Parts: sequence; C-alpha cells; structure tokens
Amino acid sequence: MNLVACSVVENREVTPGNFLLTLKVPRGFSRPSPGQFVHLRVSPEVEPLLRRPYSLEGFFERGSIRAVRIYYSVVGRGSKALAAQPKGQRLDLIGPLGVGFAPSPRRVPIVVAGGRGVAPLLFFARKLRAKKRPFVFLFGAKSSRELYGVREIRGGRLHLATDDGSIGFHGSVLPMLRREWESGGHTPLNAEIFTCGPHGLLHEVAEFAAARGIRCEASLEGPMACAVGACRGCPVPLRTGADASGRYQTLEVETRLLKGPRTFDPASAPLHPDNESVVTERIYLDKADPNILHDDITTVDHSLTRPWTVNKRYVRVNNPIWVEASCAEGNPHVRIDGQNYMMSADGHLMPAKKGQKPPDLKYFNQPQK
Ligand SMILES: Cc1cc2nc3c(=O)[nH]c(=O)nc-3n(C[C@H](O)[C@H](O)[C@H](O)COP(=O)(O)OP(=O)(O)OC[C@H]3O[C@@H](n4cnc5c(N)ncnc54)[C@H](O)[C@@H]3O)c2cc1C
Ligand code: FES
Repeated sequence: MNLVACSVVENREVTPGNFLLTLKVPRGFSRPSPGQFVHLRVSPEVEPLLRRPYSLEGFFERGSIRAVRIYYSVVGRGSKALAAQPKGQRLDLIGPLGVGFAPSPRRVPIVVAGGRGVAPLLFFARKLRAKKRPFVFLFGAKSSRELYGVREIRGGRLHLATDDGSIGFHGSVLPMLRREWESGGHTPLNAEIFTCGPHGLLHEVAEFAAARGIRCEASLEGPMACAVGACRGCPVPLRTGADASGRYQTLEVETRLLKGPRTFDPASAPLHPDNESVVTERIYLDKADPNILHDDITTVDHSLTRPWTVNKRYVRVNNPIWVEASCAEGNPHVRIDGQNYMMSADGHLMPAKKGQKPPDLKYFNQPQK
C-alpha cells in the first residue's frame, strides 16, 4: 500500500452518468492485480474530506509511464466532485488496496458482471486473455446503453443481458448464469465464478454458487472510510444459519496471502513455499452449551494431500480476573474536547463516525474566504 500523487489524463462521460477516468501514476505505484482498488482523493479541495474507493478497470504501462483507469458512476457528492476534475488536475490516491481475484489454474472462470460492477471484471478478462485462458463472460445491465466495455471483452465467450431487452437476453444476468451452468457442461471441479455488481445480484450469485458447491469470489463495493483497516467501518458479515431473529450465528473468516516460510503447526512440516495457502475459520457457539465457542479451522495448502480441518474449543470463564494492558502503538484515534477523531493514513484528522462535526477551531487562524 502506497500514498502516491497522480494526475488526470482523461475524465469523460462514456455512458449516461458514468465516467471513465485515466490517472497517471508514478513508477512507485505497484503493479496491481484485477480486483484491487484505490482510495482516491476526488478533489484538491478540503471537501469532501474522505477519499472514495474505486476498483481498477485497468492498468497500463508504456515505457516509463504508468496509468490506472477507473469507471465510475456519479451517485453523490464525492463522485460529482470527481466528475468535475479537468485534464491535468493533480490528486492523490492510496493503493493498490484489497485482494485481487485468485483464479484457480484448473478451473474455467465464469465471470458475472452487473452494471458498472463490470469495471474490475474487464481488467480481469484482459488478464485472462493475456494468459490465453478460456473464460465465459456474462454481462447484464439495465439497457444496451449501459453495457460499457463490451468491445474490450475478447478471448472468451460473451453473453449479454438487458432488463429492457434492448440487446441480448431479456432479463437479469442470473437466469443466464443458470442456463450457462446447466448447458455448458460445467461442474464445481472444472469451473468457478467471479462476480461484481449491485449487492442484490451478488447475493443471488453467491447463493447460486453455495447451493451447488461452486467456488465463487464476489467483489464487494460497500461504503468505506479509511480503507486501510483502521476504522473498522467496513466489515461485511457472512450470514450462515441466521435464525428468525436475524442474529448472526457463525463468523466465517478467510485468510490468504500468508507469507512463508511457515509450518502447519509448530511441530510439523512446512507449508508449501508458493504461499497460496487459504485458511478458513468458522467460529460459532455450541448449540447445546453457549459457554463453549468452536473454531473450525480448515487449511488448504499444496503441501497437504487434502484440506485439513481442526476444531478448537474455548470454554467461557465466569467471573474472570482481568489483567490491564495498555497498547498505544499504531493507535490512530485522537481525543479532542470529549470527541473521538482519527488520523487518516496520510496524516489528516478525519471523522470517526458518520455525520461527525469537526472540532471547535476558534483558537486557530481560519483560512481567508
Ligand atoms: C472496493 C470498492 C470499489 C469500488 N469500485 C467502484 C467503481 O469501480 N466504480 C464506481 O462507480 N463505484 C465504485 N465503488 C463505490 C464508490 O466508492 C461509491 O459510489 C462512492 O464512494 C460514492 O461516493 P459519493 O460521495 O459520490 O456518494 P455518497 O454521497 O457517499 O453516496 C451517494 C449515495 O450512494 C450510496 N453509496 C455510497 N457508497 C456506496 C457504495 N459503495 N455502494 C452502494 N451505495 C453506495 C449512499 O448510501 C448514497 O445513497 C467502489 C466501492 C468500494 C468499496
Ligand atoms: S474502511 Fe475498512 S477499516 Fe476503515
């Protein structure tokens, strides 16, 4: 992760209300993977204070020049300000952030895009094509005018769907996925799904995949404040077995990108040096005894002959003796006048909660209007 300066090369409306932004980035900007995003300062003005997260639609290198491309919709204050940034405007961004798509070498990717969620999937499709990998691309939007980037999808099998039937399949992309799955000879062993789009679509695709045991990666685009793990404002819970009250019964965590060398446990063989281990944990209370917490930990690693699961049990201690420990290192919180604020990754004061007012600046020189 890096904070880098960037400048607008092009910022034009390509479909109604949707813009394509090309930003020149310095050589220090690491080469991103499809599925990663940047946290962008959308204007040189103080307002809006918070950056906005945007997936990368592409990354381009020509000689020593590097550029990233973003396809974005104008939905509110931040994106409206971004749409007004002219060619040559200097901005800055943090990135690349997040975890990119991780296609398995042995499965055919079935890509499911909804509306402007196509952005990271176009980047992904270009990479698959460069690697000469076959793929299926299912792209749905409200109408043909919103099918951005169709001509860029080459090297794979493309199917289009529109809500108004102006082109391709008349309806949502989900029935098209069902039809592709049933008639395309796919199985959970030879195919997997990658999706991005409106949350309703992501839920439907995830449920479709879960019901059939298909591996599925969904790129979520929920609101974010810091984007670097400091504010805890963005976690997305996985609902597994929620009861009628809507409470979450199980927490599922997936850990990737562990850096070796590591061993499976302190006394055993090393994990594979390719660092492709995936560790998933299911954490839940025992149904019969709520004082027992279970953690089912499954490790998938190329040095293991199969996924390996262990169950850890933790028993609640009643009336524990608490030991006080102070951990101030790396704490981004700042307390002013009884209010909690935060320091952003680039060293600016930012709100810690939605709608929070700035601190009273009466003792400071105010900028001239
Ligand atoms: C990792 C990631 C990648 C993203 N990639 C893209 C992208 O490639 N292209 C793109 O157009 N947008 C993308 N988004 C969403 C984008 O960040 C928001 O649209 C943007 O922050 C809105 O800012 P705003 O100030 O214009 O709108 P606001 O004034 O903040 O919000 C306007 C309206 O949109 C709603 N809203 C705000 N953010 C989101 C969101 N993330 N999801 C759903 N509704 C929201 C608000 O509730 C409100 O109703 C991404 C978000 C994330 C987290
Ligand atoms: S936005 Fe995710 S922790 Fe701050």
